[in-house]
Amino acid sequence: MAKAPERIVIAIDGPAASGKSSTAQWVAKRLGFNHVDSGALYRAITAAAVRRSADADRWDDAFVLAGGKSIGLEPDGHSFAPTIDSKRVDEQIRGPEVTKHVSRVARMKPVREWVNQQVRAAAASFDIVVDGRDMGTAVFPDAQLKIFLVADPWERARRRLLQQLGRSPTDDEIAEETQRLVHRDAGDATQTVQAPDAVLIDTTYLTQEEQVERIVALARAVDHRDEF
Ligand code: CDP
Repeated sequence: MAKAPERIVIAIDGPAASGKSSTAQWVAKRLGFNHVDSGALYRAITAAAVRRSADADRWDDAFVLAGGKSIGLEPDGHSFAPTIDSKRVDEQIRGPEVTKHVSRVARMKPVREWVNQQVRAAAASFDIVVDGRDMGTAVFPDAQLKIFLVADPWERARRRLLQQLGRSPTDDEIAEETQRLVHRDAGDATQTVQAPDAVLIDTTYLTQEEQVERIVALARAVDHRDEF
């Protein structure tokens, strides 16, 4: 019997707003792979907690984890969109309330185990591009290609605001967002791990197209199935 073809996993990790998800989405599209966004699951379980109690001081592991039961992943082209009670929550999970609490929720060990399970299940039997903070270490240590995306905090803040506001942000706005980002980076420090065998890409002076092209080229170099 012919041996099943090897499944390819590309893990893209990096700090907040380093462009992981949009890059992962493009790369997946280019290669015909599926994209799984682990950060969206941390955000969705945080949004589920916000819905059930506005008093974040009272959230403990068991309370937050219970919200996981209401969360699903709906196939959306090459990607998956999180749902709560079967409804898409794309915008809610990017809102300020979720962003404010997500790092603390993501430090809860049972929550990390739950997200990792969901990611592995969504990834099962597909070639995938997965993005997050620890995909190349905790979840897919055997990934054939690991990327660690970084960029200057000011530039990350500028890009995040441009995406959110749909216009060029002012310096004052960028300065405020930079503070929020470095604060979240600090909250995420324990869970953001660069694998020793990851390729570091600093995107500060790269366009999105350039960073996608680099990763696609790196993927071609590790995939010997001649499929793309
Ligand atoms: O898009 P952005 O970089 O702002 O964040 P995200 O990828 O949507 O992740 C949201 C939050 O989830 C992060 O701030 C981390 O607290 C957490 N996260 C994590 O701990 N581990 C992951 N693998 C992915 C996200």
